[in-house]
Amino acid sequence: MTKKMANIGFGMWKIAPVDCERIIVEAIKAGYRHFDCAADYGNEEAVGAGLKAAIDQGLVTREDLWITSKLWNTCHHPDHVEMACQKSLSDLDLGYLDLYLVHFPIALEFVPFEVRYPAEWLFNPEAEKPEMRRAQVPLQETWGAMEALVDKGLTKQIGVCNYNSGLLHDLMSYANIKPSALQIESHPYLTQEKLIRLAAQYGIAVTAFSPLGALSYFEIDMAKPADNTLTEKNVQGIAVAHNKTPAQIVLRWGIQRGTAIIPKSSNPRRMRENLNIIDFVLSEEEMAAISALNANRRFNDPGEFCEQAFGLFNPIYD
Ligand code: A2P
Repeated sequence: MTKKMANIGFGMWKIAPVDCERIIVEAIKAGYRHFDCAADYGNEEAVGAGLKAAIDQGLVTREDLWITSKLWNTCHHPDHVEMACQKSLSDLDLGYLDLYLVHFPIALEFVPFEVRYPAEWLFNPEAEKPEMRRAQVPLQETWGAMEALVDKGLTKQIGVCNYNSGLLHDLMSYANIKPSALQIESHPYLTQEKLIRLAAQYGIAVTAFSPLGALSYFEIDMAKPADNTLTEKNVQGIAVAHNKTPAQIVLRWGIQRGTAIIPKSSNPRRMRENLNIIDFVLSEEEMAAISALNANRRFNDPGEFCEQAFGLFNPIYD
């Protein structure tokens, strides 16, 4: 039987390597089985140690787990896709991934792993004038190499992140192995109704990253306190009515509209809080009131951060 991805996963972005083992073991004890990882998060070796510790302690088996990783932008060329996947597998200490995703529809010049890993966005961060260097690699070629990973058994499923509707139509026109998953930023300020509806039409499961909204962007100065969905009056009122926290309401809205969610928390109480959202249902009116908060407010936007941080205007959303 094909394994199913749990619709509440655990996001590993911005978890420091030193904290990974403790957090993964705590998260598995809390009930998480789906972990969302990426080469670019710079912590896959530590994640691997955490998964191994949990397995060695008898908390779970590999088969109980759903592990996602992502192909970084510098490895889009077909010559580099398998080595990138193998590197993630070896760091994660796994024989296969459940899902491997193209992290961004952005191809950057390859950086050898021994020069810098993860390569991040800049080609030459030590240079006097560091550059973010685009590579001319069509996404179709990258996808062909992703399909080969499935054929070789390195990953069970493949998918994409941060694609818009146009790219999704294009991908579906040439994919021999169809993407099973689309991962996009989505929360009450960025509801993405059209893209989610299109993915459903194509039979692609959608995972919402940053499902709580701005929270994970405060510390990296990409959001302001006023951007907080959890302090919205509507959300707080609905939380009181259901005797839940505002975070639980926002996350419940996420799964009730059919997306998977991958909140991250370093705190065991909040880890459990974020899982404890299946014992109540939001009414149609409550769902609509939360969706009405949409402001097309995107926190993770290469069109903004690439220019600010890396000196290259590089939008991927219009
Ligand atoms: P913490 O790790 O201290 O719990 P995202 O998953 O969108 O990246 O968001 C993660 C951010 O939201 C982290 O800053 C995390 O902080 C915080 N967070 C996670 N769960 C909750 C919750 N239930 N209530 C409030 N903040 C939360």
